[in-house]
Amino acid sequence: MEPVEEIRSSIEEMVAQKRRPMVTLTYAQSLDGSIAARPGAPLAVSCEETKLLTHRLRAAHDGILVGIGTVLADDPKLTARRVGGPHPRPVILDGRLRTPPNAKVIRHPRGVVIATSENADAALERDLRARGAEIVRLPAGDGGLSLTALLRRLGEMGIRSVMVEGGTSVLTSFLRAGLVDWVLVTIAPRFVGGVRAIAALPPADAASVEPFPGLGDDWRCGRFARDMVVWGRFVPGKSTERESARTKRNAADRDQKER
Ligand SMILES: NC(=O)c1ccc[n+]([C@@H]2O[C@H](COP(=O)([O-])OP(=O)(O)OC[C@H]3O[C@@H](n4cnc5c(N)ncnc54)[C@H](OP(=O)(O)O)[C@@H]3O)[C@@H](O)[C@H]2O)c1
Repeated sequence: MEPVEEIRSSIEEMVAQKRRPMVTLTYAQSLDGSIAARPGAPLAVSCEETKLLTHRLRAAHDGILVGIGTVLADDPKLTARRVGGPHPRPVILDGRLRTPPNAKVIRHPRGVVIATSENADAALERDLRARGAEIVRLPAGDGGLSLTALLRRLGEMGIRSVMVEGGTSVLTSFLRAGLVDWVLVTIAPRFVGGVRAIAALPPADAASVEPFPGLGDDWRCGRFARDMVVWGRFVPGKSTERESARTKRNAADRDQKER
C-alpha cells in the first residue's frame, strides 16, 4: 500500500487503541538529517513530487501541528492547497503567544488553534482572538506545554488525527513522550550540514542504536522522483518508554491536583 492510504486506513484503529488522536510525525530532511540550513531561515528541502505527497498526507489528517519556532522561521500556510484540500485544522504550540497577528496561518480557511500556557498574556490573547484564532490554555509538561493535555483537548474538539510537521523542538518532544503512531520522513539526496531534525534523545551513552525509538520491522521506503520517502509505525525505544511513563505520571499528578 502507498503511504497516505496506509496511514489513513489506520486512524480508527489507532484512536480506539490509544484513546487519543492518532499522531503522524513527518518532516523533510537532507541525507545528513538537516531540516534547515541555518536557524530561522526556511529551506525548501522537498522536490515537487514529495511536496505533493506531503499535501496529500495533510489532507488525510484532521489537524496539522507545528511549533512557534516554525511559524516565526517559515511563516507556513499549513493547507493542503496542492491537492485542493480538505485542509487540516492548524494547531500552533506557542507558550508565550508570539504568533504574529499577520502570520499566514492566522488567515487559514479552517481557523487556527493556538495552544498556549496558563499564564500567557491576556491582551495578546484578545488580539489573536479578534483575528479569529481559537486560544487553548494548557498546563506545562516536559519540554514545554503538556502534549498529553494538548491531545486530550484536540480529541474533545473532534480532531481524530494530527500530523506533526516540526520543527526540531516539537518533533523531539513528541518522540521523547512516545506520543507518536506513524513516522514519514522525506529525504533529499543532498548534504546540508545545517539544523538537525531531532535534538538529543536519551540514552546518550548507548553503544548501539537498539535502545532508541524508531520504526517497526515492517517499515517501507520508496523513491518519489528526486527524493526518498521512508515510513512506518513508530516503535518506542527503551528511553521513550520511560519518558512516556514519566509523562503519563506527571499528567496524572496534575489531573489529581486539578480535581
Ligand atoms: N524541513 C522540514 O520538514 C521542517 C518543518 C518544520 C520546521 N522546520 C524548521 O525547523 C526550525 C524550527 O524549529 P525550532 O525547534 O526552532 O521550533 P519549533 O519546534 O517549531 O517550535 C518550538 C517552540 O514551540 C514551543 N513549545 C511549546 N510547547 C512545546 C513542547 N511541548 N515541545 C516543544 N516546543 C514547545 C516553544 O516556544 P515557547 O517557549 O514560546 O512556547 C518552543 O521554543 C526552522 O528552522 C524551520 O525551518 C523544518
